[in-house]
Amino acid sequence: MNRQILLRRRPDGLVKPDDTELVTGQVPEPKDGEALLRTTYVGIDAAARTWLDDQPGYLPPVQLGEVIRAAGIGEVVASRCDAYAVGDVVTTLTGFQDYVIIRDDIFATPVVGYTDQLAVMSVYGPTGATAYFGMTGVGRPQPGDTVVVSAAAGATGSVAGQIAKIAGARVVGIAGGPDKCRAVVVDFGFDACIDYKSDDVRAALKAHCPRGVNVYFDNVGGPILDAVLGRLAPKARVVLCGVISSYLTGEHPGPANYVNLLSKTATMQGFNALDEWGRFEEAFAALSGWERDGLLAHRETVFDGLESCVDALNGLFTGANIGKMLVKVSEPTPA
Ligand SMILES: NC(=O)c1ccc[n+]([C@@H]2O[C@H](COP(=O)([O-])OP(=O)(O)OC[C@H]3O[C@@H](n4cnc5c(N)ncnc54)[C@H](OP(=O)(O)O)[C@@H]3O)[C@@H](O)[C@H]2O)c1
Repeated sequence: MNRQILLRRRPDGLVKPDDTELVTGQVPEPKDGEALLRTTYVGIDAAARTWLDDQPGYLPPVQLGEVIRAAGIGEVVASRCDAYAVGDVVTTLTGFQDYVIIRDDIFATPVVGYTDQLAVMSVYGPTGATAYFGMTGVGRPQPGDTVVVSAAAGATGSVAGQIAKIAGARVVGIAGGPDKCRAVVVDFGFDACIDYKSDDVRAALKAHCPRGVNVYFDNVGGPILDAVLGRLAPKARVVLCGVISSYLTGEHPGPANYVNLLSKTATMQGFNALDEWGRFEEAFAALSGWERDGLLAHRETVFDGLESCVDALNGLFTGANIGKMLVKVSEPTPA
């Protein structure tokens, strides 16, 4: 049988039990030109929550009654398509469901050369690639720079900070709580971490970044963005990666300290990793090379079972994850 989690009502804030429904139906049969994928892991991304709002974005909103959209990975269990053979591992928009039909299109990418499905969804996956494109392409840290990264214990932030370390920068993370700050320094090798839930962020930035911030990789927006803008060094680069502090409310308070962009002749640039679609192989090669050389650590927080997808999604907003948030839907075949 195929279990699916459908959107029943648009959430207000965190996703509530009545916003979704777990339904069970027949496993779909692939037609000519299609293959059937058994989902092994669903990646839990902040974007999945934004797709539940009735707002246009780079992908259309999930409609009421549709399966909740999410990027995942799985194994081909039946194929009527030349592009995929039974046993192939493929990343695609699996959604919150046990099985999904795939076709030979840009939404389904066979995984070649990597056997660890967790790592493919984590450090070599969309969030790892996001960190790579944002830090190397927009942040461009130089040796000796001071780099600040928010949501530093998360999937994107943990990798972004390590890439800045590899470039020779001094890296300061911002994360919520002592356990996360410890992980940021001990596991991910940042030089320091500010606990935004208990520290005075402005005072801590002053202490840790005495010569100012050359690169700020922003995953959160809101008051933390404003605090870092108040501490910019001349010619600083602010990488606008995400605004997770406001996805639940949809309200984006403007940063008063944006005037520092002017006085410090700094730049603030947004980017979308999907624009770099043609360079994903380059990102995966760089990330896997650094991991092989012991320069890049990764962690995952794995919830168990399809029915935990909504809890995992909410967990991104309550800070339940260190590293990449994933849900294990079924057991991968051992490599
Ligand atoms: N531009 C792109 O192409 C692109 C692509 C992928 C992701 N992103 C963005 O990257 C960011 C990180 O995504 P991710 O998937 O890697 O998630 P993640 O960092 O693994 O998890 C989200 C983390 O955000 C922190 N957080 C939640 N609410 C917060 C708040 N109000 N204030 C401060 N921190 C808060 C939590 O950590 P704490 O416990 O430390 O608060 C949580 O663990 C998101 O903003 C996402 O939209 C952008």
